[in-house]
Amino acid sequence: MVEKTLAIIKPDAVKKKAVGKIVQRIEEEGFSISGMKQLHLTKEEAEGFYIVHKEKSFYGSLTDFMSSGDIIVLVLEREDAIAHWRKTMGVTDPALAEPGTLRHSFGFSVERNACHGSDAPETAAWEIDYFYKKP
Ligand code: RTP
Ligand code: MG
Repeated sequence: MVEKTLAIIKPDAVKKKAVGKIVQRIEEEGFSISGMKQLHLTKEEAEGFYIVHKEKSFYGSLTDFMSSGDIIVLVLEREDAIAHWRKTMGVTDPALAEPGTLRHSFGFSVERNACHGSDAPETAAWEIDYFYKKP
């Protein structure tokens, strides 16, 4: 089924100038890019985006990191986009991610792991709305 997912190139990957390589990989994987923009989130915007992790020990540190620099927010479209993008990224911890995955190639730590992807159709819809809802 053709579906949409939200992807973010996180501040660590933007700082290390990996945006071009990641976007190239997105296209090579057969995604159509139906939205792409560069943002610098405020702490409050990062907290809103990661509200599901509010109770986690890493919430403060994660939202500091995600508001520490520019990010690229993309809407990706293809057959099984959500699962395919998560497979392309690899698992959360770059040290455990398979060679060839984006987190293996560009991630630095479990927090500074280069990219984000939605994890289910409902969260994809919510996350796309968070950044692309018309006012
Ligand atoms: P994402 O949401 O960014 O695509 O990553 P994910 O599903 O693989 O991981 P999730 O459990 O949703 O965690 C969201 C982000 O929080 C940071 N994190 N830090 N310090 C830690 O133990 C820890 N665990 C997670 C990562 O940046 C992770 O991507
Ligand atoms: Mg997640």
